[in-house]
Amino acid sequence: MKIFSRLFSSKKNLTIEELRKSTVPKHVAVIMDGNGRWASRHGLPRLAGHREGVKPLKRIVRLCSDLGIKYLTAYSFSSENWQRPKNEVSGLMQLFFETVVAELEELNKNGVRIVLIGNRNLIPQRVLKKFEDAEIITKNNNNVVLNIAFSYGSRQEILEAVKKACINITNKEIDINDIDESYFSKLLFTKNCPDPDLLIRTSGEFRISNFLLWQIAYSELYFTKTLWPDFSDAEFLKAIQDYQYRNRRFGKT
Ligand code: IPE
Ligand code: IPE
Ligand code: MG
Repeated sequence: MKIFSRLFSSKKNLTIEELRKSTVPKHVAVIMDGNGRWASRHGLPRLAGHREGVKPLKRIVRLCSDLGIKYLTAYSFSSENWQRPKNEVSGLMQLFFETVVAELEELNKNGVRIVLIGNRNLIPQRVLKKFEDAEIITKNNNNVVLNIAFSYGSRQEILEAVKKACINITNKEIDINDIDESYFSKLLFTKNCPDPDLLIRTSGEFRISNFLLWQIAYSELYFTKTLWPDFSDAEFLKAIQDYQYRNRRFGKT
């Protein structure tokens, strides 16, 4: 155990070029948590924490591109987050709106494809329109796919998929016995991407909070105490390096 921890602590931090020589995850999912606590530690309103939280996301999209990570799924607002105080919700909606307006051109220039995953019916029209425009503008980009999980809840996603499957059975488009994992995965919002290889959660919480429950069946998990606005490039690279030391067995020997 001692040798093991010594090995781990003496591990040198690898550069992007060095990390690229080994297996990089195809798909990284992030639960960007801790904005509120970051704000209160700085004596600021919660919304200032959310605003600060845009910066690490921008940097990490860039790092995914540099590392050759093709898919990044960012949990930015959950189905349950609608229950937060009205002013926080409306402040967040305004922040999403402004962020898409401010960042779209550069993301597009960098070959980032934006995909919204979540319940669109609940999103205010003005904000939804911005996201949908961004989806259309970036739809042919293939450097990095950025899934924005917004108004997203995994249980709700699974329930909707079950309903779609039932409709397809009723319409005789599929036989019940042909519904397998692959068919079901295609009914989820994430139908066009592989399952996450790595899931990162910041802020010291050890829970999943209704994120990608089906998709993370065999994902590697990385938890850190760092609050999301403080999540640095170096720590993201550390998470990737940590992933490269994992021995993924998928139930086999
Ligand atoms: C994550 O930060 C962002 C959203 C959920 C929108 P939080 O707002 O949950 O921050 P904490 O957990 O209260 O610190
Ligand atoms: C999960 O964080 C959702 C996002 C990061 C967008 P929460 O702060 O909502 O999760 P809980 O309430 O701590 O489980
Ligand atoms: Mg939180």
